[in-house]
Parts: sequence; structure tokens; C-alpha cells
Amino acid sequence: MRLGLRLILLLVVGVTVVTFLVARSQVRAEKQGLRDDLQRRSEILAESLQELVEPALGQRSHRELRRIVERFGNRERLAGVAIYDLDGKVIAESPGLSERLDPPAPPLAQIKNDESSGKFVELAGAPMHAYYVPLHNNGQVAGALAVFDDAAYIYQEGDRIWRETMWHVVAEVLLIVFVTVLIIRSTIVVPISKTTQWVRQLRFGKGKIPPRPRLPDEDILAPLSAEVMNLARSLAEARAAAEEEARLRESGEAVWTAERLRLAIRSRTEQKSLFVVSNREPYSHVYGTKGIELQVPASGLVTALEPVLRACDGTWIASGSGSADRETVDKNERIRVPPDNPEYTLRRVWLPKKIEDGYYYGFANEGLWPLCHIAHARPVFRASDWEAYQAANQKFADAALEEMEQTSQPLLLVQDYHFALLPRMIKQRRPEVRVAIFWHIPWPNPEAFGICPWRRELLDGLLGADMIGFHTQAHCNNFLETADQTLQSRIEWERFAVRRNDHSTIVRPFPISVDMRDGVFARETDSPYLLRAKLLKQLGISAQFLGVGVDRIDYTKGLLERFRGVEHFIEKHPSYRGKFTFVQIGAPSRTRIDRYQQFLQDVEGEAARINARFQTPQWRPIVMLTRHHSHEEILPYYRAADLCLVTSLHDGMNLVAKEFVAARDDEEGALILSQFTGASRELRDALIVNPYDTEQLSEAIRQALEMDSDERHERMHRMRRTVREKNIYRWAGTLITELAEIRVEEPDFAAQRPR
Ligand code: G6P
Repeated sequence: MRLGLRLILLLVVGVTVVTFLVARSQVRAEKQGLRDDLQRRSEILAESLQELVEPALGQRSHRELRRIVERFGNRERLAGVAIYDLDGKVIAESPGLSERLDPPAPPLAQIKNDESSGKFVELAGAPMHAYYVPLHNNGQVAGALAVFDDAAYIYQEGDRIWRETMWHVVAEVLLIVFVTVLIIRSTIVVPISKTTQWVRQLRFGKGKIPPRPRLPDEDILAPLSAEVMNLARSLAEARAAAEEEARLRESGEAVWTAERLRLAIRSRTEQKSLFVVSNREPYSHVYGTKGIELQVPASGLVTALEPVLRACDGTWIASGSGSADRETVDKNERIRVPPDNPEYTLRRVWLPKKIEDGYYYGFANEGLWPLCHIAHARPVFRASDWEAYQAANQKFADAALEEMEQTSQPLLLVQDYHFALLPRMIKQRRPEVRVAIFWHIPWPNPEAFGICPWRRELLDGLLGADMIGFHTQAHCNNFLETADQTLQSRIEWERFAVRRNDHSTIVRPFPISVDMRDGVFARETDSPYLLRAKLLKQLGISAQFLGVGVDRIDYTKGLLERFRGVEHFIEKHPSYRGKFTFVQIGAPSRTRIDRYQQFLQDVEGEAARINARFQTPQWRPIVMLTRHHSHEEILPYYRAADLCLVTSLHDGMNLVAKEFVAARDDEEGALILSQFTGASRELRDALIVNPYDTEQLSEAIRQALEMDSDERHERMHRMRRTVREKNIYRWAGTLITELAEIRVEEPDFAAQRPR
């Protein structure tokens, strides 16, 4: 409260000084006005008396003089009137004047000069005003007349003003004290005590961050509470990591955490020596309605890599695709991210439109994507796209080499099917760089891959890497067989490696995952019950059971098959009509490709067709939310749903399945998972389905909704244990550890041509 006292004291002193100064000048002005007024009145009275007195003086009639002064002597505030002769002797006065104030002699010199004068004087201890005028006889000054007025009321008026001022000051002081105490309490004391309580809860809490208290006047304390929030997060992370470590030591387990990954990377490599190349950037800047806005793309790859880069402050090289991306980088095309809490560097690469069209839309997404996903879409291979693909790979390789220039023996993690040629391009210039490429999508069998006109060049580029990672052993095996059948090489099956031109590439499965402990999906929300009520209200429908699906709108995701499964379920189990709603969150993707545009229309058309069959005024079986949703927006759907549908026709891993599991800390909810996803190898407790089998899909929905509560808990409990242990840090940790331990050979690259 010392601050409060100081504030009150300052305000009181300030207000008092100002009020006193104002009062002083008011008193002065008031007094001056009253004096002037008094003086004027004396003057008028004296002059009118002068006219009456002078004839009587001429006649020397003292009686008449007395009669006149007596007549005028009883006016209000008039103390008396006196008439003097030229020697200053009183010759007539109003009754009792001498007894009261003993009239002083007039200023004779001035009187003789025929001048009037007035002054304030103290007579008999009382303030008075005396006004003197000369009296004439035959044109000569013959005496003087004095008018004495009581001036005490002028001082009394001043005193009255001062008294009022004092009461004002007292009232103001009381008001100031009251208002200041009130303001300090509501804007400082209460928020600080709430924050203190919250920080205390944090200190004693069990890993989870309790929700931040709602504070009035957020703007005053916002910077402080943001910092406290960061501090709280770090504290919670550190505590959770320590607890996890202790638990692991206790149980002898070896679960990967962000801290363990950080230590692993630091102990195996020099600091800041991890470099990642991917096409999709983790943050893009776009011009929006409120100026430059930040976007996080809907990509499993981004979800997976972000915690890794954060853990070791690395450099991520990616294509700048946002409309305001150029505005936000420095002169070296770099930006520290995440922008509100920078932890690593993003280097943006700019591709000319023609190259981007051929490389990304053409070769990568119309060629390699359908080639690797067995989803019955024909790949399109154009020579011009292939040229653009080579040019783009070279551009990214140059950017990566530039970023790694100052680092000796860096680790380079190349991501995905956009960069099959990049590993060799790097190795040709810097053979000592340890290069791994992770292929996030499936690898097909040799026959399927064999239709690509540039299959040898692609394999040759990939085999420049020291290590190639896939999500599953099946994809590794397909790759090894493809290499065996396509190029002159030796497959070392006992250590899963390809030996070619004195260089070995090891091929390993690293199942990617999510961050279940500290990621978005572990955050606290309202209870599932409340969330569901809110979501249904937002959607404007009523339903008792909720299903959810979250996907990019891509023909590999089995969306049409999924909707047909829902349709069949409603058809077969009419009691669920009006009760079960399936919400499909769909992010439009690669829409410049005709196939994707067509597919988006097909999906929306199919949802509309099914809805038209069954819907009622308050209910629809399918709700399509066709736009990009942030993780924060998706989380309530995961938490509120009774089931999550993942029905990919072919998928490297599928992180939606793992995100759903990560979000269900209540161990509720059932996962229906396609057998054609990598995730189905790990999440054995999901209801595994063949998405082409509509009957089976519909049955799985029924089973999920009617499952015995104990069984649902047990299944979710086991899946959560798997995701907790096989988490994103394990993916990155094992990948980077293996890569860092590889003995780098420096082969004769000149001798290598794809054969
Ligand atoms: C898949 C790919 C990623 C890609 C993501 C999103 O998960 O493996 O490499 O980033 O889809 O696709 P997009 O074309 O939008 O980057």
C-alpha cells in the first residue's frame, strides 16, 4: 500500500496547492471589487453631501450642518460623517462618531489644494474607509467633509471564501482517497493477487498449466502476464521433463522428451548445426484484412518438425509461399520464428512462378504423389515439369549450402518427395555433410514405381543421402527392392543398406508422431460436455453423438468412402437419425490442380446428396467445414467427439489419428482407422477398417458409438501410452542419432552416373 499512500499524498498536495492558489486569486479579486464598490459609494455620498453642506457652511449655521449629517449618518455600513473647518477641527459630526472612532484630521494639504481623497485606515481597531472632499464658500475652500464607511465586511467576505475553500479541499481529499484506493484495488491489487495465486498454483501444480485468470484492464498488465505465461510454460515444461526423467530412471524406460532431444543433438553435434529443407514453410505471412497476418499451414510435416527445430535452434529452409513473405524477412531472406517467441531460423527460398508450377504442382503433386499413393489416380509425367523439378532442387541445394557455409560437419534433414535429387546435389559439393532424407509418403512396389520415366535419376539422387527414412518397414522394403531392380547396386539386407559406387545409404523406418505432452493437443479446454454443446450451437444443429474427421481435401484421404460409410450407417440404423452428426473439417489443398478442384466439388456434392436424403430442420448427418482450421480450432472437435474417422486409401503415417489420441486426456472417444495408413501399424487398439468396405465402415461407426465404456477407456489408454512413448522427439531423436553416428565416406562422385 506504500505506492497507494505515495500516490494519494501526491494527489492531495497537488490538488490542495492548486485550490489554494485559485482561492487566493479569487479572494483578491473579490476584495478588490468590494473596495472599488465602497470607494464609489463613498464618493457619491460625499459629493451629494457636499452640495447640501456648502450653503449651510456659507451661512455658518452649525445647527443646519448637524441636521444634515444626522440625516445621512444612519445609512447602511456608514460609520459616520464629519465636517471640519480649515484647521482640521470637527465642526459637525453624525451622532456618536467621536465616541466610536475619534475622527482623524483630514489631509489638509490636499484639501487646501481643492483635491478629494480616500483611503482605507484602521480606526479604533476596526477597518474603515475614509473619504474626504473639500467644502467651498464663495469659490474658496472653507472646510472639509469626511465620510467614514465600515470596511470590516470586505475582510469577512475574504474569510468566508477561505472557509469554503477549506471545506472543498477536505471534500476533494476524501474523494481522491476513495477513488485512488478503488482504482489501485481493481487495477493493481486484485490482478496482482490473482496472478500471484495463479503462479502459486503453478508452483505447486502437477505439470499442467492452470488457466490464466481473467484480469480487468488487461492492457496494463498484458506485457507482464504474457511474460509470466512464458515463464510458467517453461517452468511447467522443465518440471514435467524432470518428472519424466525421474519416472524413466525409476522404471528404466527411455522415453524421448524435448529436453532429451536437445541434449542428444548437442552431445552429438556442434550447437546449431541442424538444418532442415522442406517445401512447405512452417509460418507464412499473408496480406489480410488487418494487414500482414501469420498463417500455419495444414501439414503433418510441419506439425512434426516444428518441435524438433525448437528443441535445437536449427535452421529451416523452405519455399516462401505467402503473399507478404518477402516483406517479413531480413536481407539474407531469414526470419526468426515463431514470431512471438523466436526459437529457430526460417530461411525462405523464392521460386519463379514457372519453376514452382512445374516442380510443385506438376512433377511433385501430379507425378510423384499419385505414383507413391495407390489411390487409383494416374500420375502425369511431363518433361517440362521434370526440368522444373531439377531446377527447384538445385535452388534449394544452393540455399542449404549457403546456410551451412560457416558450419563444419552439419546435419542436413531433407524432407519428402519434393527433393529426391537434393541429397546428391549437396554431397557433390560438400561430401562431409551428413545427409538424411525422410520420405513422408508411402513408397510403392518396384512395378508401380517403374512407370516413372525418370526413376533412375530419382533413385540416384536419393542414394546420395547417407540415410533414407520411411514411416514403416514395409515402405523400406519396397524401396530396397526398387533400388535392387532399377539400378546397379548391392542391397545389404542384413543391415538394410544400399551399397553403390563406394557409398552406403542406410534405409530405416522412423514412425513419425506428435508431441503429446506439450503440444497444442495437450492444452486444457472446457469439459468435452461443454465443448460439444458450444460446437453444436455454433453449427446450428442438435445431435446426441458426434463424429469428426480432419483432412486436407485430397483424393488419397478416402473422403467419399467415409461419407458413404456414414450414409450406410444412418440407413442401416435409423434410430441414429437425428442423433449422430459427422463433422468433416476439410482444408482445401493444391486447388490449382484440376484433379483436386474436381475432388473438392465431388466431396461437397456427396455431402449435400447424403444430407438431402436424411436431414431434418434441426439436424444433418454430415457437416462440411471447408476451410483451413488452426490446431487451436480443431482441438475442441477432437475433445468433444465420440469418434474420429481416418479412412485414407493410402497414407505414409497419418498424424490426425495420433493428434486425436493426444487430445483425449479423458481416455474417451474411439478411433476408426484405415488399414492403409502407417499409423494402423502402431495404433492397434483403433477399430481398423478397409475404407473401400462400406459395410465394415458403417459397422465400425456403430461399434464405436455402442462400445462398452471400460473397453473404450482401455483402448484409448493403450493408444495414448503408444503415442506418449513413440512421440515426435523419439522420431527426431533416433533419426538424428543414427545420422550423427554414420561414418561419412567420401566416394568418387565423378564416377557416378545413374546406370
Ligand atoms: C503431405 C506431405 C507433406 C506436405 C503435406 C501438405 O503430408 O507429405 O510434404 O507438406 O502433405 O501438402 P502441401 O502440398 O500443402 O504442402
